[in-house]
Amino acid sequence: MRGKAMKRICFELESRSINLGNMSALEFFARKGDWQTIAYANKVKTLEAWEINPEFKLSLMKNLPGATVRIGDSFELARDPSAKEMFDMIVFDNPQGTFGKNEQYCEHFEAIETVSALAKKQAIVIFNVNYRPFNFNNLLLWQKRRTQFYKKKDTGYLSIDFLLSFYEDYFSRKDFRKEFCFVVNRNEEYLSYLVYSLIRI
Ligand SMILES: C[S@@+](CC[C@H](N)C(=O)[O-])C[C@H]1O[C@@H](n2cnc3c(N)ncnc32)[C@H](O)[C@@H]1O
Repeated sequence: MRGKAMKRICFELESRSINLGNMSALEFFARKGDWQTIAYANKVKTLEAWEINPEFKLSLMKNLPGATVRIGDSFELARDPSAKEMFDMIVFDNPQGTFGKNEQYCEHFEAIETVSALAKKQAIVIFNVNYRPFNFNNLLLWQKRRTQFYKKKDTGYLSIDFLLSFYEDYFSRKDFRKEFCFVVNRNEEYLSYLVYSLIRI
């Protein structure tokens, strides 16, 4: 079912008394918005959908009526002063592997750096973690980037315990305290969403 994992996230957040109806949300990698974004679009107060590929603009407007659709490079949009500390909820449904000009980006590794600029004092941050990359043995650049980011030689399998502790430490180095976090599987093979409630300290 499309958007099942995101529906689960909304349920988990609401059961922790998080009021999505007060939230300004950002989908950082929006595509057409019909895979995951659509599952929470009607629940939040405002939604921005950022996407680099102009071919998706009309589908985004159709799938996410009421959202502000911005076509552009999200990394540049994130540097715009008008986006500074604007969002209570940020979703990084990142591409897998390396991507962008000269493969400059990998998974969410650079994208979550923008949380410091984009998040309000308190924010929910949601991103994909790939704990067991598929076809990884042949992809040397992806391996190298994961080794650099996770500071671990073999990243072919990362336990959820390792990942939760890694990202808690990551956000604390960015001056965010974790209020709570949880994991929602997107499939049974390799992909999960990590959800962090963060407070800027
Ligand atoms: C996994 S898809 C997102 C799916 C979407 N969240 C949904 O629910 O349907 C990743 C998207 O990121 C976009 N993308 C890749 N690099 C980007 C960038 N630098 N800025 C904005 N979007 C980018 C791709 O074009 C692709 O549409």
